[in-house]
Formats: sequence, structure tokens, C-alpha cells
Amino acid sequence: MTLISLAATGTTAYVVGRVDDVPPGEGRAFVAGGTPVAVFRLRNGALHATQAACPHAGGPLADGQTDADVLVCPLHLFAYRWTDGGSPGRVGGLRLYPVRDVDGDLVVEV
Ligand code: FES
Repeated sequence: MTLISLAATGTTAYVVGRVDDVPPGEGRAFVAGGTPVAVFRLRNGALHATQAACPHAGGPLADGQTDADVLVCPLHLFAYRWTDGGSPGRVGGLRLYPVRDVDGDLVVEV
């Protein structure tokens, strides 16, 4: 993992792997500066990153199903919005992290 910058927001950006490490339509687990994260590459090319463990009971979110709007946890099927991490009708939400493609590197800010 490579530290690439300090952001003015107080976050730090890390290269966690290559964009191609995440097949389109799927998620993969990474560690960004000691923080476990789940990164998803949607079929439309969009990238999303969130905490690795579901806030409900610790389900492995990188194994969840996703589309352009929501991520569904594989354990109890709670759905979380990509817009704000919220889960309709549920307590708590996901922490979302900025993620981007930098010349094929997968960069996550935590
Ligand atoms: S652990 Fe994710 S919905 Fe229960």
C-alpha cells in the first residue's frame, strides 16, 4: 500500500491496488492505511468505497451485491444507499470513503 498524499480535508489517500483488481459489478476487500475497506466497481465504471464490515452485525460487505443505487449486505440483506450510506428503515448507516482511479491505481481516502 502506498501513501500518495495528505488531503486538506484531514484524510489521507492510499493506493490500495489496481482498478482491475475489482471485476466490474463486484466488490473486493482492501486495507487503506490500516482501515479495512470494501471497494466496488460498478458495471457503469463508477467506483464506491465503504467500511469493510456491515454496521448491523459485521457482515463482509465486499461480498455484497450492488447496483448503481444500493449495496446489499450478504448476511441479512440490509440495503445501503451509495448516495449517503443510509439504509431505509434501519438504524445507522455506512461510512463512505472517497475513491478514484488514478492511472489505473485504486486510490481510497480514509
Ligand atoms: S450483518 Fe449486514 S445486514 Fe446483518
